[in-house]
Amino acid sequence: MTRIEELVKEQAEKHGRQRTSLMPILQAVVSSERYLSEDAMVAIANELDLSTADVYGTASFYTFLDTVPRGKYIIRVCKTITCHMKGKDEIIKTISDMLKIKLGETTNDRKFSLLQANCLGWCHKGPVMLINDEVYPEVTPEKVTEIIGKYLKKS
Ligand code: FES
Repeated sequence: MTRIEELVKEQAEKHGRQRTSLMPILQAVVSSERYLSEDAMVAIANELDLSTADVYGTASFYTFLDTVPRGKYIIRVCKTITCHMKGKDEIIKTISDMLKIKLGETTNDRKFSLLQANCLGWCHKGPVMLINDEVYPEVTPEKVTEIIGKYLKKS
């Protein structure tokens, strides 16, 4: 049994093997592996007796479940209307210039990925940026430069 199969089995034992167990298992795999590989999706499908397409469909519907390798720090900028009107494009441009990556890309050292997200529920404090689980409301290009600067110094 591969390491990923063991992980999936362990999670299935914890969360059960019903369809409703799919989300918690997907989340557990993403949080341990930082993304969802094809092997992981196949292992989950086998374990839960679902089709791989089914697992993939669920994973790709929820954009928070990455299906490609991402950086250690995943930056998500809200793209929904309020944040859009409050200047999210400028925020993305600032980050993109600093890290020299475009939206959807990961830095070569796999430290950062830059993504957009749907409404994060902080519209009254837009534009909003998320770095992994950390929420940064009311960001400006200056604030973002400072925040990303701190992350650049982290290992
Ligand atoms: Fe950006 Fe809601 S529109 S958090």
